[in-house]
Amino acid sequence: MRRKIAAGNWKMNLSFSEARDLCSEINNVKIPNGVEVIMAVPSPYLYVLNAIARNKSVSIAAQNLHSKDSGAFTGETSHNMLSSIGINYVLVGHSERRQYNKESNAELKAKVDIALANGLSVIFCCGEPLSIRKKKTQDAYVAKQLKESLFHLSAEQLASVIVAYEPIWAIGTGVTASPIQAQQMHKSIRGLVSKNYTSKVAAQLPILYGGSVKPANAQDLFSRADVDGGLVGGASLDAASFTAIIKSF
Ligand code: 13P
Repeated sequence: MRRKIAAGNWKMNLSFSEARDLCSEINNVKIPNGVEVIMAVPSPYLYVLNAIARNKSVSIAAQNLHSKDSGAFTGETSHNMLSSIGINYVLVGHSERRQYNKESNAELKAKVDIALANGLSVIFCCGEPLSIRKKKTQDAYVAKQLKESLFHLSAEQLASVIVAYEPIWAIGTGVTASPIQAQQMHKSIRGLVSKNYTSKVAAQLPILYGGSVKPANAQDLFSRADVDGGLVGGASLDAASFTAIIKSF
């Protein structure tokens, strides 16, 4: 049985008091058996929210880390800063960071490597822009992202990775990939992992869908064979919406 995961990505939202209240509410939700909840929160809140999230099914994640151990990188966060405050998960490769911070597949590979080498699990984001979807070359586009940032890993290292497929045209737009489109891509990703590793490794890899996941569409998405949960932006900022999503497995 693969892990079932409801992950929230708060991005650059919420004051501290709003964040604390949201974290407490989610911490108190009765999480369905076998479901893991992860919330990727703004870096100034990591330490305190990690102390609030005592529910064993709830983890706090960072939204980013630097590809170097330490040094003169003003404003950045290192793997050690995260692990030394008890954080176990980090997002790598979100499309917003690829776009606004010009993070390349090579740089993301370095981030994946330093995270895994230091005991952090990675939620690795991939996904195509609308122009690629229109040309129907999305499978090759995502395959290149995975090949250049992930497929150098050993099978053992890959076991600490969760993949999140987030088509850029579906992020924050209200346009969700249809459950059929999501399933097609997830199956394609699992097929690639099977080809580059083994079918057993592929069968164990959690693949989340992200892009306008809401209470109204979560159940249909999560019921697809290769969709193991969601990475939720906007709808994770509201306790009632995110709770409904957590309960849609
Ligand atoms: P939305 O759910 O707001 O579309 O954001 C998705 C996302 O980018 C999660 O990382």
